[in-house]
Parts: sequence; structure tokens; C-alpha cells
Amino acid sequence: KDTPAPRPKRVILAAPRGYCAGVDRAVIAVEKALTNFGAPVYVRKQIVHNIHVVSTLEKKGAIFVDDVAEVPEGAHVVFSAHGVSPAVVQGAKDRNLQAIDATCPLVTKVHREATRFARDDYQILLVGHAGHEEVEGTMGHAPERTTLVNSPADVATIEVDNRDRLVWLSQTTLSVDETMETVRLLRERFPTLQDPPSDDICYATQNRQVAIKKVAEEAELVIVVGSANSSNTVRLVDVALENGARAAHRVDYASEIQQEWLDGVSTIGVTSGASVPEVLVQQVLDDLADAGFADVSTVVTAEEDLMFSLPKELRTDAQGNP
Ligand code: F3S
Repeated sequence: KDTPAPRPKRVILAAPRGYCAGVDRAVIAVEKALTNFGAPVYVRKQIVHNIHVVSTLEKKGAIFVDDVAEVPEGAHVVFSAHGVSPAVVQGAKDRNLQAIDATCPLVTKVHREATRFARDDYQILLVGHAGHEEVEGTMGHAPERTTLVNSPADVATIEVDNRDRLVWLSQTTLSVDETMETVRLLRERFPTLQDPPSDDICYATQNRQVAIKKVAEEAELVIVVGSANSSNTVRLVDVALENGARAAHRVDYASEIQQEWLDGVSTIGVTSGASVPEVLVQQVLDDLADAGFADVSTVVTAEEDLMFSLPKELRTDAQGNP
């Protein structure tokens, strides 16, 4: 009896994937600060949550610190794409630091919403992950008025003091589906809950999730390139698993791919988080091609052309010319 022919091995690449406009801007901001002001340039926290990006910038003269207190008086410091609380801005002023704010404009938008709702006496239910830098920065804009909702399971236990002035906001890099579920549960408990004026989960997070959903319908295995502390990257693994992939793994580098993941698999989906340079995806594709997965097609679910202008402190060159 004939054995069935092995199914062809192929890769489906998700698009959009990789760098978003906020990451691109933040990475260029550090590079431009190094060019304009010379090394070292200090950066508070990882400029974006990617090991490769951080180590590449370190080699060029960036020094990453956890706290502005570690930066020498008067030096240049870049605030990361995830944003900072007003207390951090003040801490930098107190040390006479030359601050360059690389906060993603879409995070700044959430900060403004938080400030405004707090001023208008709302209680803000912030859907987000405890301890994430973005959540710390957003909460810092309305510390007295914000209650963190970490997961759908939190909804049953949170307490509110005025049900008539209640609004939810969110971290920009969450799972859209899980957040909608959390909000549904919140609204069940608090029917007067108001929606934010516009989506807080950003376009890049949403687009990457839509693309990997489509890919996961066909792929048995999904490989997501990105770092463990990157929220949007980790969500892509969850979304792949919830939408048809039998397995999904996150890797920082192609070298982390395990041979056994590929055993018995014919279709592999590949994507990358919003802080991941394309060169790392290319290495994954090269290694997969060596393993017999040389046939690569791309599923495109959206086109992106958003770009943000650089932080204002960097819109001139070293001589002060625009
Ligand atoms: Fe900004 Fe979204 Fe990227 S908030 S940094 S565009 S993932």
C-alpha cells in the first residue's frame, strides 16, 4: 500500500508585524540623541521591550537605568516609549537632567484621558497588567482616581465609590478579545460604566492580533519573535493559541527554535511583536528554510503607514539646525 505523500512544508508570514510607529520613533530618538549629544546618553528603562534593540543601543553608547536618580546631574536622559508618570518628570527636573521624552504619542493620549477624567472627578478602571511600565506611568497621572483591573477575574472584587462617574481606560498593548471580555464583565457589575473617547489598545497591537488570528487558522505551529517582557508580543502567543494554532512559541532569536517543535508540522506561522526589528524575523525564516520550510507566503490584513515626528528636543541637529 502507498504511504501518503508528506504534506508540503510551508511558512505563512503575518503582516503587519514588527516595528510600530512608536517603537521606530523611540529607537531613532536614542540614536539621534547619541549623534547630537555624544555618548553616553542615559535611557530610563528599556527604550522598547526588546533585548536585541537594547543591547545594540548599549554598544552605541546608551546606558540603561531603572531610575533617574542613577543619571549624573545635568546629563541627557531619554524616557522610554512606555511613558512615565509626572513624578518621574519631576525627578529628572530636580536633577537638572536634559530629558528627551520618547513616550509613544498613543500612550500620551491615554495619559491625557486619565488626567482629564481624574480632574472631572471620575474613578478610572484601568485595564492593564500590574507592574508594567506603561501602567505605572498611566496610573501616575491619576494616582488617587485609578483602580487597576488586572484580568477578568479581578472584576468581581474591585470596589468603586461613585457608580455614576466611572470610566474604563486600558494599557495600549493588551489582547483585544480579553479586554472586551473584562469590560463586558465590568459593565455587568457597573451598568453606568463609560467607554473611553477612543480605543486605547493601539492600532499596532490590534493589527498584529488580527493578522496572527488569520495565520493561526492555517498554521499548526506559530513562532512569535519578541522578548518575554514585551506585552504585545506575549499577547500574540495567546491570540495564536486561541485561534487555531496547536502550539505557539515566543523566541528572542532564531537559535531558540527547538527541532522538536517542527516534528510532524507542515505549516508554520511567523510574526513578531511591535518592538522587534525585521532582521530577527529574517533569521527565523533562514533557519526554517534550512529545516525544509523554504516556501514562504505572506498574509496581509492591513497596511500601515503611520509615522510620528521625533520628540521636540531632537528636531534639530547638533548645531541647532532643524
Ligand atoms: Fe505606541 Fe502601540 Fe507601538 S502604543 S509604542 S504604537 S505598540
